[in-house]
Amino acid sequence: MKTNRLSEKLTTVLNTQVTGEAQASQLYLSYGAWASSQGYTGIAKFLFRHAEEERNHMTMILEYILKRGAKVSIAAIPAPPKHPAGISDCFEKIFEHEVSNTKSIYSVVKLSLDEEDWATWNFMQWFVKEQVEEESFAMNLMDKIKIAGGEKASHNELYSLDRDMENRHIDEKSAIEVTAANP
Ligand code: FEO
Repeated sequence: MKTNRLSEKLTTVLNTQVTGEAQASQLYLSYGAWASSQGYTGIAKFLFRHAEEERNHMTMILEYILKRGAKVSIAAIPAPPKHPAGISDCFEKIFEHEVSNTKSIYSVVKLSLDEEDWATWNFMQWFVKEQVEEESFAMNLMDKIKIAGGEKASHNELYSLDRDMENRHIDEKSAIEVTAANP
């Protein structure tokens, strides 16, 4: 008896999204290590915390695939991009990454809609909402560095920004509460 409740196409795009979230986690880890090496310990902590959140996203999707009786395929993760040129470039690249991830999430939602797979459509709505938070926070980061003077920001301004970031989460509420076991 067939118990797999996901189509082949949806299984493929969901597995691709698992890899995408793992890749996002590596990107935040890489940027966090770079920020720490530049002396931005607050920004580094923020980026490391977010790397963990991306891992949670990955696990949430992986568990969903399994719950629907389909097969998880763990693929190789592409290497993260080169180190950013500075804090301003770092925040811009984070924003670009989140916009690209939103597109990827939307393609899963679109397919679930086309296939009338309402369980998957419903599951993906959490990610749609999450991407609004993540894009919004990334925009906020770019505003902060712009106000601080962009690449020409003074040491004092960068120091304040770094301290401000130490305890921040991209999505203050869900980042603290969400785990793979408790999405
Ligand atoms: Fe899992 Fe930054 O999106």
